[in-house]
Amino acid sequence: MGSGNHDDKTAGRVLLPAHVVPTRYDLALTPNIEAFTFTGTVDITFRIDGSLLNETNNKSITLHAKELLFSTASYHLLDGPDATPVTAEQMNVNLKATTVEFLFPEPIPPDASTLKLTVAYTGFLNDQMAGFYRSTYTDIQGQSKIMVSTQFEALDARRCFPCVDEPSRKAVFGVTLTVPAHLTCLSNMPEAKVTAINAQQKCVTFMDSVVMSTYLLAFVVGEFDFLQTRSAHGVLIKVYTPPGKAAAGQFALDAAARALDAYNDFFNLPYPLPKLDMVAIPEFAAGAMENWGLVTYREVDLLIDPVKASTMQKQRVAVVVTHELAHQWFGNLVTMAWWDDLWLNEGFASWAENWATNVLYPEYRMWDQFTTGHLSTALRLDALQSSHPIQVPIAHAEEVEQVFDAISYCKGGSVVRMIKAVIGLSAFQDGLGAYMKKHAYGNTETYDLWNAWEASSGMPIGEMMKSWTEQMGFPLVRVRKEDFADDKVVLELDQTWFLSDGSDMQSDKVWTIPILTCTGAGAQADMTLMRDRTATVTIPFDPKDTAPRWIKLNAGQEVPMRVLPGVEMLRRMLVAIASKSMSAIDRAGVLNDSMAVVKAGHMSPEAMMTLLKSYKDEDEYVVWEGLSDALGGLDAVLSDDENMTGYFRVFAKTMVVNLMNKVGWEASDSDEHLTKLLRGIMINLLGAFAYDDESVQQEAKKRFEAFLEDANDIESLPSDMRTAVFKIVLKNGSAKEYEQVKAYFATASDNAERKHVLNSLGCIQDDALKLATMEWSLSGEIKLQDFFYLMGSVGRSSKQGREIAWKFFQENFERIRILLQKAHPALMDACIVMCAGGFCSEERADEIDTFFQAHPLPSSTRKIAQTTEHMRANGKFLRVLKASDLAKAEFWEKL
Ligand code: BES
Ligand code: ZN
Repeated sequence: MGSGNHDDKTAGRVLLPAHVVPTRYDLALTPNIEAFTFTGTVDITFRIDGSLLNETNNKSITLHAKELLFSTASYHLLDGPDATPVTAEQMNVNLKATTVEFLFPEPIPPDASTLKLTVAYTGFLNDQMAGFYRSTYTDIQGQSKIMVSTQFEALDARRCFPCVDEPSRKAVFGVTLTVPAHLTCLSNMPEAKVTAINAQQKCVTFMDSVVMSTYLLAFVVGEFDFLQTRSAHGVLIKVYTPPGKAAAGQFALDAAARALDAYNDFFNLPYPLPKLDMVAIPEFAAGAMENWGLVTYREVDLLIDPVKASTMQKQRVAVVVTHELAHQWFGNLVTMAWWDDLWLNEGFASWAENWATNVLYPEYRMWDQFTTGHLSTALRLDALQSSHPIQVPIAHAEEVEQVFDAISYCKGGSVVRMIKAVIGLSAFQDGLGAYMKKHAYGNTETYDLWNAWEASSGMPIGEMMKSWTEQMGFPLVRVRKEDFADDKVVLELDQTWFLSDGSDMQSDKVWTIPILTCTGAGAQADMTLMRDRTATVTIPFDPKDTAPRWIKLNAGQEVPMRVLPGVEMLRRMLVAIASKSMSAIDRAGVLNDSMAVVKAGHMSPEAMMTLLKSYKDEDEYVVWEGLSDALGGLDAVLSDDENMTGYFRVFAKTMVVNLMNKVGWEASDSDEHLTKLLRGIMINLLGAFAYDDESVQQEAKKRFEAFLEDANDIESLPSDMRTAVFKIVLKNGSAKEYEQVKAYFATASDNAERKHVLNSLGCIQDDALKLATMEWSLSGEIKLQDFFYLMGSVGRSSKQGREIAWKFFQENFERIRILLQKAHPALMDACIVMCAGGFCSEERADEIDTFFQAHPLPSSTRKIAQTTEHMRANGKFLRVLKASDLAKAEFWEKL
């Protein structure tokens, strides 16, 4: 059971002094959109904690602040008759700590209970997508325009107003904005009052917010069109789009209305605000941000062109919208007390985005996709020694920026899914409802959630979950002995910490593992918990049953772990895979686990190839997602060995063409969602393994030419295959095709269309044009938020592409660093991964480490360590492959 000893945990944290605690902010801002500045006044009401007042702090109030210039600060007491303002004598800005200390001549009296601080200041409307910032965009008349909006999570409310910028310091916010009269002006709450100041300016006051954390405050000022609807529970929902694009908001509007109702019912607690606005922001670092009542999005993650959007774009918008709306409860209503429990926000929302999308669009089969998506991403990262536990100690708040990663999101989502599998939907939901009610408008730690589920399920959730969230990594469950009989199978299991390169850390880590199994007769009802290093499990077969006697561990891939099956067990599973009598999730699971255990040296490469071959008739999207990762991953590792690359690519091409013959190029209206996604993957794989095939070239060219005639001809070139066809054409093309694809960037109707260009352009074979593509990313024509797409199109295009991208990155490091230095560190991380992440050898890993030692990037250290560790594991794997039969032509002939 989580003990939650608060004092121990807070000991290392750098927090603001707590002798005064804000309860209310009244914020009045006047942005000057031409001058890129704003003026602000904030009145902060503080509760005084007399027990913490002492000689050293009673004349001072310290707040977070960054890039603000202060003109005056004064306070007056609210409870006594003496309301004379006391003006600050000193305003000490600490750049490193991002704080300002106001020092007053008079001490705060020990018996005072509340005071109000008034601060006047100015700030900048920056172009770094953080704090109060500006975006540039082109309107439908082709005019360049500016709009302003905010992004405060995690630590940038302090760039807009002085505040206690800590998630547990919740307060009420009253916002007033003075803006040009013709602009739309939004904040978390509806407008309360609008007054015209003169013909040009208006002053908008919003209703008081509910009690919430600073990182959730938001405002937006600009020109918009909107669409609106009302949820069944009566919440007014609007989607704001750039002028002329309202229709593109329809899909997200429908999704939001239905999702809000679904969550309302699921948590059994209404959405507490009168309205929900969702806005597309032209420049946006992340995908979206859950500001309470005013959710902001990157355009491509909100807007869906009703005709042109691809199946994947729709799914992405559904997922992003449902993710952010889950936060309206999980995160906004109930908030983690400190950033070391960030996973409570992001892990839960990552679970919920799948739950809600699956409720809204069951045909997407999100839980099938979870296996090859979130789960697989989580395990890939968490198999590294440079990973971190889900609950990660954060001393300085800025460390949290590096924790918005696959551990918090994907592993977090995976452990939530595991709990649901263990306790069942009804206890899961009851526990959540109770947790929400108990902690509404408050803050929690991880053990509060465990306690709620313990109460609803009667199971020792706290004890079990400690092993998953407090220790980094996950187990490999190995079948040490297998004994198949007609009426049962007995398995002896052990568990060890799984590392991607197979290192044996001699560690004493043990996980509490739910053992869930399935056989030819279906999933087994009984679940046992494996608490020790070893366990023996017996699974009965009904002797009368004629179902094939195979068994798989980790049924439904519910537990975030890897399994190494016994030889006989694997042999039997291969039959079930080839005949598809095993479910798609489990087929994908066996594949993903096997690829990882082979790489770690626990299974032979020869067995891996036999396994891959058993998927030759596979036609399920989720399994193909796994196959695509497997084939692509092997291709990358083998690319440093010419012979094996040759053999392997023939094998991969055969598999892909086999699928191609089933799925075909021609989309039909009756195709299901996953069939459309499958065709997208397939054409992408054709681009990887068969782009020079005569018929593939011709088909792509034909469709590309139809597109050149008319970019709106989505019959000939559906969006689902647009990027992939561009890639095939570029791989076979010359400067002419390069210019044709590039030219589309200027004429495309929206960012989603421009993304097809960004994601494909680097596939051109010519080195000079690959380099030109890298140059273009920094030319000023591409937004900061989009650099990494273009860089990735080069870095991931071929062996020579990754050389060019890495060389370019090194030579232009200063330029890239300066451009991105104040933007969200995730954007630099993405550039690093795209330019340096493609290599598969120890030498290259050393080279990359050496480079970053000479050019340190403190906020990307974790990402760099993870990237090179991954690379070293691949290098080790290549050596194993070279020593295996895969290096011999006869092996491939016989396969
Ligand atoms: N809270 C995050 C946005 C965020 C990310 C703020 C990083 C500060 C730093 C938001 O809820 C989120 O997770 N957005 C995701 C989308 C989601 C579907 C995974 C994103 O931006 O990619
Ligand atoms: Zn989130």
